[in-house]
Amino acid sequence: MLQQGKLVAMPTETVYGLGADASNPSAVAKIFKAKGRPADHPLIVHLAYATQMKDWAENVPDAAMQLASAFWPGPLTLILAKKSWVPVCVSGGQNTIGLRVPDHPVALWLLRVFGGGIAAPSANRFGRISPTLASHVAEELGDSVDCILDGGPCQVGVESTILDLSTGQPVLLRPGRISVSELEQVLQTKVQLKPQHAVRAPGMLAVHYAPHTLAYLCANDQLAMQVESQLQQGKKPGLLIFQETILDLPQTVPIIHLPFKPSGYEQAVYSALRTLDKQQCDLILIEQPPNSEAWHPVNDRLSKATVQC
Ligand code: TXA
Ligand code: MG
Repeated sequence: MLQQGKLVAMPTETVYGLGADASNPSAVAKIFKAKGRPADHPLIVHLAYATQMKDWAENVPDAAMQLASAFWPGPLTLILAKKSWVPVCVSGGQNTIGLRVPDHPVALWLLRVFGGGIAAPSANRFGRISPTLASHVAEELGDSVDCILDGGPCQVGVESTILDLSTGQPVLLRPGRISVSELEQVLQTKVQLKPQHAVRAPGMLAVHYAPHTLAYLCANDQLAMQVESQLQQGKKPGLLIFQETILDLPQTVPIIHLPFKPSGYEQAVYSALRTLDKQQCDLILIEQPPNSEAWHPVNDRLSKATVQC
């Protein structure tokens, strides 16, 4: 199907991807159409082996080789200068390319059998929550995908860390499971946190990863008061709170508890938001996680999915 230019949704360890042959511009165009994604937003190309980097990227720096051997297969995307043959639609018009080797047996099997690069953004409509189950893809994109490979629930649950190596200093474009400290340890140099100039990157738009229901971040000591005030106004709130948080609420209020542990929270958060989105709530209240490095990916995604209470 990939060889025929069709769309194949595949599981990765982070989220499900909407895959197409990255060397085929008309196949890649189908991804943008299916997602409703603006053409200037670049796609990540997935590879089976780190040795394929040189086929897609110009002058692969040592830093990329070091990071690949430390973290691939794994949830890290590297932005490098792209080879001129790479279709410009893949890179959203930019002269760089995002590459990663995913750590999922189904994705790796597909990539090895196919042999080429698979361009795959997260398999959701533009601006919506990334899918962590095959059924999420079917619900959201079912009609426009030719095939969905069901690899079960994604183990990481939030999108890969993205590191830009195309300029002098490494720049973090999106936090993920591979932390800045881990990157710095391998690189033996500082990773810059904020891009100095605007990068066309959908994961960096203010409103992204959003559920349909308006969601608010709320500190633990504000939760009970907020719920009560919403109920008094005749509104139905839905809650996403930590397992340890105990609130005495009417049974009609939908509540999802998530682990007070970054990896467990990451794994479950998108699915939980989708579930709450289906509960006909007027709003979703999300308990604010701590502000430490381990919670960086979660806080990044929640800040894009919510407004502060
Ligand atoms: O974990 C992941 O990365 C998932 C799975 C499927 O691999 N993919 C994913 O793709 O999240 P997507 O399209 O939803 O997000 C891709 C992000 C964009 O938001 C953009 O920031 C970045 O990759 N990106 C890709 N190519 C880039 C480039 N040349 N320059 C800057 N950013 C780029
Ligand atoms: Mg996405």
